[in-house]
Amino acid sequence: MSDYKFIAGDKKWWRQAVVYQIYPRSFADLNGDGIGDLAGMIDRVTYLKSLSIDAVWLSPFYPSELADGGYDVADYRNVDPRIGTLEEFDKLIEELHKVEIRVFVDIVPNHSSDQHEWFQAALKAGRGSAERERYIFHDGIGENGDIRPSELVSHFGPTGWTRVTEPDGTPGQWYLHLFAPEQPDFNWDNQEVRDDFIKTLRFWSDRGVDGFRIDVAHALTKDFSDGLPARNTMDIDPTKPDGSDPLFDRDEVHEIYREWRKVFNEYDPPRVAVAEASAPAHRLGAYASEETLGQAFNFDLLHADWNTKRFKHLISNSMKRAEKSGSSNTWVLSNHDVVRHPTRYGLPDKTDLVKWYISEGKSAPLDAKQGIDRARASTMLILALPGSTYLYQGEEIGLFEVADTPREAMQDPQWFRNPGKARSRDGCRIPLPWTTTGSSFGFGPGGSHLPMPADFGKYSVEANEADTNSVLNLYRTAIAMRRGLQCHEEINFIFNRNRSVLHFARPNGWQSFTNFGKSPVKLPKGKVLLSSQPLVGSQVPGETTVWLQA
Ligand code: BGC
Repeated sequence: MSDYKFIAGDKKWWRQAVVYQIYPRSFADLNGDGIGDLAGMIDRVTYLKSLSIDAVWLSPFYPSELADGGYDVADYRNVDPRIGTLEEFDKLIEELHKVEIRVFVDIVPNHSSDQHEWFQAALKAGRGSAERERYIFHDGIGENGDIRPSELVSHFGPTGWTRVTEPDGTPGQWYLHLFAPEQPDFNWDNQEVRDDFIKTLRFWSDRGVDGFRIDVAHALTKDFSDGLPARNTMDIDPTKPDGSDPLFDRDEVHEIYREWRKVFNEYDPPRVAVAEASAPAHRLGAYASEETLGQAFNFDLLHADWNTKRFKHLISNSMKRAEKSGSSNTWVLSNHDVVRHPTRYGLPDKTDLVKWYISEGKSAPLDAKQGIDRARASTMLILALPGSTYLYQGEEIGLFEVADTPREAMQDPQWFRNPGKARSRDGCRIPLPWTTTGSSFGFGPGGSHLPMPADFGKYSVEANEADTNSVLNLYRTAIAMRRGLQCHEEINFIFNRNRSVLHFARPNGWQSFTNFGKSPVKLPKGKVLLSSQPLVGSQVPGETTVWLQA
């Protein structure tokens, strides 16, 4: 197990960290089974170090039937044998810590897999048992109980209730699942559930894990005292933005996180966490306080059009929110659930991304140059802001969303459980291309679990390495430079008459200047440190960010 010396003393490292998300099954496959593995990550530690990142976050690598890409966890304290072993996990942590990269793992506390031993035990034990109490079982309606307990949709399809067969072979109770039927929701009123997650947090913390990303952090506690919820959307009830929605963002959820905080603080340095919480903006701070998880994702930019006013507004609001909670900001442009941002920025504004995906990318024209120019500029912009930046694997090589994956190869339940209504997240989960040619473009020697497009080699790490102006080289330079420029968590907007410009300064004189428009604008005074596109004399080209030192 790894030793902690190199980070002892630096208790605030997470406040302005660059965290790189690894989607394990699609990162690098060393054993040739088509699925990325821990050995593949160990093999790429030098690459990760070359990015100058502070931490990696590993999406789930636990044993799983893969009903939801690993977010259906069958054993929270183990490694999927297809991905590796606990010994390899220890080795990965050791190698990453040697090069001063910290590690976050994903905790999935709202639901387990239906293959989890507790759920299997609940099925066997039958109605009224202590085993069923760990999940949310209810009798159906009607004489034979064959009508579902309430009309509730799930994130992945038309119903959030599935009926089980009782041990005697008769149709029986129903259980709640906010996601796929293979993801039964835990009952967080149950003490055993609470104790078991504390055990899991200690298990990984003892192995040297530095932080946790908490999946669906807003949904754990539920209150059905006014009856079982019936609704046709999984959005929080807009009339209850105050903690009283029966399913989401209830105040009691923070009791759980206060308990977790005590566990985090048993370690030196304290373990950290970031909440994936879908809650009204004014309530996000409760997840990000020092007594709870410490930080919460800000997903505003995932949905923001490329527009100066919009960006400025979102940035100001996020700054205010962070100040109020005592946390730091978080900035995210892409992750494993959304359309990659070069694609979002390359499609016409207001493109319906679901329709676009369903049409295999034919419903709207993609302007690839515009997409990449804006992606480069927006990455430099968010890296200049105070707070943590969360990057998603593949964005550093300029990957676009893949919309034409053969339909029979799809894996995402969001796709096949919502026919015609949702996109498949497989489009952002295609394995990484490492080489310009060869078997799976260097992802692994034995093919890849999702098909890789024929032109993927041009985005490969190898192709990026060979081009001094590549996206990869920009990321490397910008992230490394940012380390030396970090300072107090403040910005001051600088007025510019041109409405396409977003210009701000940090307290040490580091400035970021983004031209959102298409036409060049005048470069302000200051020493140019870096630019997302080559400058043209004293002009900043369209869709470009420049860093300056005043
Ligand atoms: C994860 C998704 C997952 C869902 C259910 C999310 O928020 O990011 O990938 O499908 O939780 O666990």
